[in-house]
This record gives sequence, structure tokens and C-alpha cells, in this order.
Amino acid sequence: MAAYEDAGIRGLGASAAKGRPPDSIPSTERPMRAIFPAALLVGLTGTLFLSACEREGQQNDGPAQATLAAAPTLERRPFGTTADGQQVELFTVTNATGMKVSFTNYGGVITAIEVPDRRGTVEDVTLGFDSLQGYLGEHPYFGSLIGRYGNRIARGRFTLDGKEYRLAVNNGPNALHGGRRGFNRVIWSAEPFQNDSSAGAVLTYTSADGEEGYPGTLRTSVTYTLTNDNSLSFTYRATTDKPTPVNLTQHAYFNLAGDGEGDILAHRLQLNASRFTPVDSTLIPTGELASVKNTPFDFTQPVSIGARINQPDQQLKFGGGYDHTWVLARQGEGLVPAARLHEPESGRVMEILTTEPGIQFYSGNFLDGSITGRAGHVYQHRYGLALETQHFPDSPNKPAFPSTILRPGEEYRSQTVYRFSVEGAAPR
Ligand code: GLA
Repeated sequence: MAAYEDAGIRGLGASAAKGRPPDSIPSTERPMRAIFPAALLVGLTGTLFLSACEREGQQNDGPAQATLAAAPTLERRPFGTTADGQQVELFTVTNATGMKVSFTNYGGVITAIEVPDRRGTVEDVTLGFDSLQGYLGEHPYFGSLIGRYGNRIARGRFTLDGKEYRLAVNNGPNALHGGRRGFNRVIWSAEPFQNDSSAGAVLTYTSADGEEGYPGTLRTSVTYTLTNDNSLSFTYRATTDKPTPVNLTQHAYFNLAGDGEGDILAHRLQLNASRFTPVDSTLIPTGELASVKNTPFDFTQPVSIGARINQPDQQLKFGGGYDHTWVLARQGEGLVPAARLHEPESGRVMEILTTEPGIQFYSGNFLDGSITGRAGHVYQHRYGLALETQHFPDSPNKPAFPSTILRPGEEYRSQTVYRFSVEGAAPR
């Protein structure tokens, strides 16, 4: 805890510090090649993803191998000013393979993830805007850091220790993604760091008691780390002075063919989950953990997202496509493989590992061409997808779900890793 209290005090004025990020989990600094096999040993989980990993062993890592020793670099620059005059910065981390990640301390928004395809062509694989102005306007959480509570809480109400709390209702009858001014719309203090194998920043924010209706002063830190093996990791920490629900996540939208390059229906997705959380018509879980077997929700093997998305299935109808949480196969705690996303034409692959119990797969169903983003790209229906690692929606009202309640004296800890690679040799 002391570590991020320090980070909060040092704040934006600090220049990039050499060495370990103040609140890093040491294991994140181990090369993912070491973490991944370890994670694979976790029960059934591993078996499902083993074949993908074996394929990955044969992948074309291109120039990565030759330059692995170079230290990642970090640049910071002004990124504009908010309506109330607060200065915002943009951080760009570049690793030894040329992978680049940019993020801003406004809402912890990831503004770009640039990775090579199997031909070596580097493209941004996230949806977003060219400038701060776009992020200040209305948009569906592009690149956003979500808090205090990722996804929905029914009717914006929950009862904790006998007391009812009311949150802003900002999505039909429900509360979504932390409220009107969630963590995606606040200014975070940012302390950059660089060392031999990774670079990034520790973002800290103290949410006041009662903010958006949530009890307790929540001291939050989120560390974004890019390593030389093309892994981008998110380490979340929080403490509170009153019991309160916490469910932090990242809401980047991906299109592995490249931003603006059509819809995501040909992407192949594998999820390490044999159950999901069915929802009602307002996308609140019913409380059931249903089997995916013989349903369009079965991603236990890699399947094209578009293969079954239009089937006459009531759950697909409620979501307008996929917009559900999958229950990750895990035994105990620790990082487990959650998802593997592959875009066949570019060959780009993104694997997600997490300590969370669930992953929300949202197939960009609400994108409808009304938003023009980066480089004039018009975001049509399903031009991007989100894979949000999290606890289950509406957990504060579902006692049988894994608890999201953080109490004084406890520390909220969560970690998610996105690992990028390519599958298939470059064409001659
Ligand atoms: C989440 C929700 C979706 C939608 C998006 C943002 O993924 O589950 O229903 O609200 O965020 O547009």
C-alpha cells in the first residue's frame, strides 16, 4: 500500500524512473514464455490452450529474437487540456521488437496498440481517436480503464451490510461501468518507469467516499507494463476505508486486421470457459452459470465469431450478438489463459491471461457507424470487439457469484496480460 501512496504523491511531475514499477508483481517481469507454461499447468485450463501454444512455438517471431536485449523506451508528451483546464499527457512505450503502446492519464485510455502482422506490417489494432477531443466526447469506452465497477449493477442499487446504496443509472434501468463520470473520465496521476526489459507507468487515483454513489475512499493504482516479448500487462490494486464493491477492467476495442479494416466476424476466438452467465433483456445476469455445450456460446475450440452470431438464440437476441461473461476454468488463484483471438488474414494473435474469474466478450454490437474515429475511420457495426477480464456483472446483488466486496484492511489485486504474436509464415 505504501508503494502507491508514494506514487500518488509524486504524481505527474516525476520523470521516468529507472527500475521496478513501484507496485509491480514481480512475476510480471518474468518473460511470458516462462509464465505461460506455468499457467498451462492449471487443470483443464491448460489442456484447452496447449495446442494453441504448441502452434505458437512455431510462430514467426521475426526480428524480435535478434533485438531482444534492447531496453524498451518511453516518451511522454502533452495531449491537450480538459474543459476545466487540466493538462493531459500521452505516454508511448516502444519495445525492442518495435511494438508500441500509447496511453493517456485521462481515463487511463489506451490510445494505440501497434503490432506487426505476419508480413511485418505494423498497424494499430485498437479503435479510438486521433486526439484528446475525441475521448472527451461521447464514445462507448474506447480504450478506457473502467471503475469502480466494470459492467452492470441492476437498477443501480445494492445492499451491503444492511445498507442500501444507489448509483447513477446510466444504461437503461441499470448502472454501467462506474457511472456518469467513471474512472475512464478522471485524470490519473502517472509515474512512468523504464528498466532493461519493460517500461510503462503506474497510474493512481483516489476516488472520494460517495463518488458516483459508491461508499468508501478508494485508493487505486493500475500499472501498465510493456515487455520485450510483446506482452502488455495491467496490474490493479485498491484499498478502501469502508466496505465497497470493486471490479476494475480495461475496455480496449480490438480489430486485429487493423483499426478500420472491416468487421471482426472472421476473427477466430477461443475462450477457456465451459460456462457463461445468461442475461435478461437488460443484460443483467440471471444468476445461472449455464453450460456452453451445444450453444453458440461454445468457444472451447477456436471458432469464427461470425459463425453462429446470427443464430436464432434468445441470449444472442438479448445481447444483439455476444455481450456476456464467460466463467473461466480455473483451480485456485493466479494467472490462467482466458482467451485467444486470431485474425487469419494478418496472422495477428492476441492471448489474454488473467487472475479474474470471468471475461466479458462484447462483439461491438452497439457500433453503428455513428462514430468517426482515428484517421476518419467510421466505426460500423462490429468493427471492433472487447474482451474485458472481470468479476461477473451485478455481483453485489448475486450472493452466489464470487464476491466483489473489498473491506478495510484488505487489498484488491488483479492482473491481466495481453500477449501479441503472429501465426503463419509470411507469404513469399
Ligand atoms: C460492455 C457492455 C456492453 C456495452 C459496452 C460499451 O461491454 O457489456 O453492453 O455497454 O460495454 O458500449
